[in-house]
Amino acid sequence: MPLDLSCRMCKLHEGRGRVVPPSGDLSSSVVLVGEAPGEKEDALGRPFVGRAGKWLDKCFFEAGLSRDAVMITNTVKCRPPANRRPEPDEVASCRIYLVEDLKNRKLVVALGSTAIEGLLGRKMKVTEVANQFIDVDIDGVGRVKMLMTFHPSACIYNKEARVKLTEALRSAKGFLTSDSSSSC
Ligand code: URA
Repeated sequence: MPLDLSCRMCKLHEGRGRVVPPSGDLSSSVVLVGEAPGEKEDALGRPFVGRAGKWLDKCFFEAGLSRDAVMITNTVKCRPPANRRPEPDEVASCRIYLVEDLKNRKLVVALGSTAIEGLLGRKMKVTEVANQFIDVDIDGVGRVKMLMTFHPSACIYNKEARVKLTEALRSAKGFLTSDSSSSC
């Protein structure tokens, strides 16, 4: 289902400023999936424009990849109160939009445990699966590769997260089709 910018399907609509749609190249063969918009994202209407976004940008730079070459989205499209993690019922309500974001991709990069668990529907420890590829067919969108890695906010306190996230973005470059690839 296409994203409804006036969606009221879950309780997150009560406290949000706005629904935050995906950004970047919406027809890219690579999609990055984060957790949820934070305060800045809610104010500006774009994913990863706050503190975590700054770390993501550093990793994009180190990987030699432009953020404009990929699509960036979130597991839930509205900011949870006080930036708490989205609750299972909120992830479940927003899944119809997430599934839409996965269509016609070659690679889904799941950033952190909320994205990994939201996509796979089961608990995972990022430290145990970081930078592993798996083949998935999520809700019948077709077979696609999924790469699980750290959330950019983990880079703040964890050097390994930064190295792994950068490595994951470097791998993502190889999945860009020639018409959507660009480097910085
Ligand atoms: N900003 C986002 O858009 N998503 C996150 O997961 C974190 C910050």
